[in-house]
Amino acid sequence: MSEISEVFDTLEYGPAPENTQFANDWLEKHDRCFGHFIGGAYTDPSTGESFETKNPATSEVIAQIGQGSVEHVRAAVTAARAAQPVWWQLGSHGRARYLYAIARKIQKHARLLAVLETMDTGKPIRESRDLDIPLVARHFYHPAGWAQLMQDELPDHEPLGVVGQIIPWNFPLLMLAWKVAPALATGNTVVLKPAELTPLTALLFGELCQEVGLPAGVVNIITGDGDTGAALVDHPDVDKIAFTGSTDVGRVIREATAGSGKRLSLELGGKSPFMVFEDADLDSVVEGVVDAIWLNQGQVCCAGSRILVQEGTAETLERKLRARMETLRIGDPLDKAVDMGAIVAPVQLERIERLVEQGRAEGAEVWQPSWSAPRDGCFYPPTLCTNVAPSDTLAQTEVFGPVVTMMTFRTPSEAVALANDSRYGLAASIWSENINLALDIAPQVKAGTVWVNCSNLFDAASGFGGYRESGYGREGGEEGLLEYVRPAWERAAPMEQEPTPHEPIVAGLEKTPTIDRTAKLYIGGKQTRPDGHYSLPVYGADGSRVGEVGRGNSKDVRNAVEAARQAQAGWAAQSAHSRAQVLYYFAENLDARRDELTTRLASLSGDAASAHSEFEATIDRIFTYAAWADKWEGRVHHTPFRNVTLAMKEPIGVVGVVCPQAHPLLGFVSCVLPLVAVGNAVVVVPSEVGPLVATDLYQVLDTSDVPGGVVNIVTGSRSEVVPTLASHDDVDGIWHFGSAEDARDVESASTGNMKRTWVTYGRARNWFDRRQGQGQQFLREATQVKNIWVPYGE
Ligand code: NAI
Repeated sequence: MSEISEVFDTLEYGPAPENTQFANDWLEKHDRCFGHFIGGAYTDPSTGESFETKNPATSEVIAQIGQGSVEHVRAAVTAARAAQPVWWQLGSHGRARYLYAIARKIQKHARLLAVLETMDTGKPIRESRDLDIPLVARHFYHPAGWAQLMQDELPDHEPLGVVGQIIPWNFPLLMLAWKVAPALATGNTVVLKPAELTPLTALLFGELCQEVGLPAGVVNIITGDGDTGAALVDHPDVDKIAFTGSTDVGRVIREATAGSGKRLSLELGGKSPFMVFEDADLDSVVEGVVDAIWLNQGQVCCAGSRILVQEGTAETLERKLRARMETLRIGDPLDKAVDMGAIVAPVQLERIERLVEQGRAEGAEVWQPSWSAPRDGCFYPPTLCTNVAPSDTLAQTEVFGPVVTMMTFRTPSEAVALANDSRYGLAASIWSENINLALDIAPQVKAGTVWVNCSNLFDAASGFGGYRESGYGREGGEEGLLEYVRPAWERAAPMEQEPTPHEPIVAGLEKTPTIDRTAKLYIGGKQTRPDGHYSLPVYGADGSRVGEVGRGNSKDVRNAVEAARQAQAGWAAQSAHSRAQVLYYFAENLDARRDELTTRLASLSGDAASAHSEFEATIDRIFTYAAWADKWEGRVHHTPFRNVTLAMKEPIGVVGVVCPQAHPLLGFVSCVLPLVAVGNAVVVVPSEVGPLVATDLYQVLDTSDVPGGVVNIVTGSRSEVVPTLASHDDVDGIWHFGSAEDARDVESASTGNMKRTWVTYGRARNWFDRRQGQGQQFLREATQVKNIWVPYGE
């Protein structure tokens, strides 16, 4: 014990341990042995395999946890399936009351949950008590409101059914809330698998569900490792998988669910830039870095792990940071005066040590404070790495620990280039006293969340999720809610009988040859000969040869993607009004060629009346997206800080479109125009039944001021061009309207760069029906939301 006078001298804190008695009482009540929460009750923990969960700060075993088997998963999915109709029929208000009750329960047991979370994860009690658990409650209150409003605000929408949810160990209860609450609010039931390292708060959550009288089977919790997770992913009666964790496992899940029809949302890793401009307030920046990379010992998917600082400021910032790092306190996570606790487990500690050593070997200068971290338990000191090149391991690989790199830039455009030099795109933070500069940079950074002069702020009203290999789908806000519903008509949609290209009539009966245009592709605003110099014949409904189209190959697809990439940024930068004008002009020019197009359609279908109605519907549809172009707007969220959160709808980028085989003209515009209206550039594979309709559009596109490269068209055999498009690393998303089999191949091929996919698995869509063939569902799939947090006030 130090003397009081000494304390005055050193200003050292004494220990301020949190009381663990209530948490230990709860564990003892269960004999420190837990089964799974299935159908509203816990399974007998004394049967089946089990594993230990440990306190990473002390290495003590806290409890014995059941290892979920395939049978457990099956039982949980069965319970969830049985409960789902009852839960949905409870109605908006009924579900809202349960979610509200859960939020209240969480608040009433806040301290118990916080202590248990800290014991299991090693995070400082200050964080679990002041950040995690209050946010958990907020993440139930907010969706409770959505549950209440769903009936009125999302009419004609239904839940997906049974949702499998797999979460990581860094924010165990918070990730549970992010996943469970919106799923329940919208009438789904869930089977959740917490991470094997941190299952305790999820198990306590099951008990809280019992206490509020949540109907049995609405929430099921299965503990276990990756095998249990894989069993849940593979279960055929699960309608959606929501996953947060590593990009590697995200890829495995994408592959495993390809073609299954399961909806998928993935929140994966990150390597988020922390950009400091020379006019930034450096003292605030230093505290921002503390929040960005030392929150939860840096085990945060959106941790600001790459400081990019303007050259003239780097030296001062480094000095100030080192001084601040000397004062950080690391130690017993249950001590209320500790800044940093323990790393979650030895395996993670080893990973951090290995990556830092690799960085050192590549030339990084690794700096750590003069004090040493505790030797017992899993501790790693705050670490600053300089002399790191953009391509080095430490600048590219997610460390998931308290390790930050520092690199310099000279100009804002260099800062943006460095920030985007990553396969990830989860978050970014921008520091400048010049709000004009910050708001100019924010849209240029590829990230789902951008914090201006702040870092690691979260709220249930604001969506959270990634670009690129950080995954897709959003959690939180209205976007997060929409991940769990679908338009009601989809359930009853029959499987489509896809038309196939018409066959020729018997040789010898063909018409006299006409003088035909040479078949070409449309790439970068030019008609180009197919790379392979091959053509494909196209036949009409009567078997006569109506022409030829170019037979595109992989090289043509790659050229088209390159042209689209070059055009996309400029197109997105045009004002929404001017994009709308281009689309109206397109309708005008197309209408001028009504006779030609309807004759073409009639030759393909053999039905003049249907050709006319398809043409009418096409012009109507183009007007729809010209109308939407300047109305598909963002929002300002009410996040409970002194800030505005701007939810901006941004284009996906370069998107591949595989058009429906039926209705070659209407199908084409219905898929291409929503994407183009909001600023994407597209590579289109038109209908194989009526590819000449697409080639007829080349001149219409030219005369309508659509910039070269915004719409690229590659005709040919789908089996020859779609695989290249679906696996291309510079394509950001792909839409596929075709058979279930082809959809599986597209989803599987998309895993390389984790591009977003939208596929119909062969379900029919009535393109003439305005509810099915156009509207907000298309626009949502054509955009991704970026949330920009801007604080205000002095
Ligand atoms: P992980 O991705 O293996 O684990 C996340 C969850 O997925 C756990 O519940 C795990 O049991 C489950 N899982 C593992 N394999 C599975 C499979 N084949 N099918 C279904 N579920 C499966 O992450 P891990 O190993 O715990 O951490 C490794 C690295 O991942 C970290 O160093 C970090 O870089 C990253 N990570 C990223 C997170 C994020 O929030 N984005 C969270 C946790 C880890």
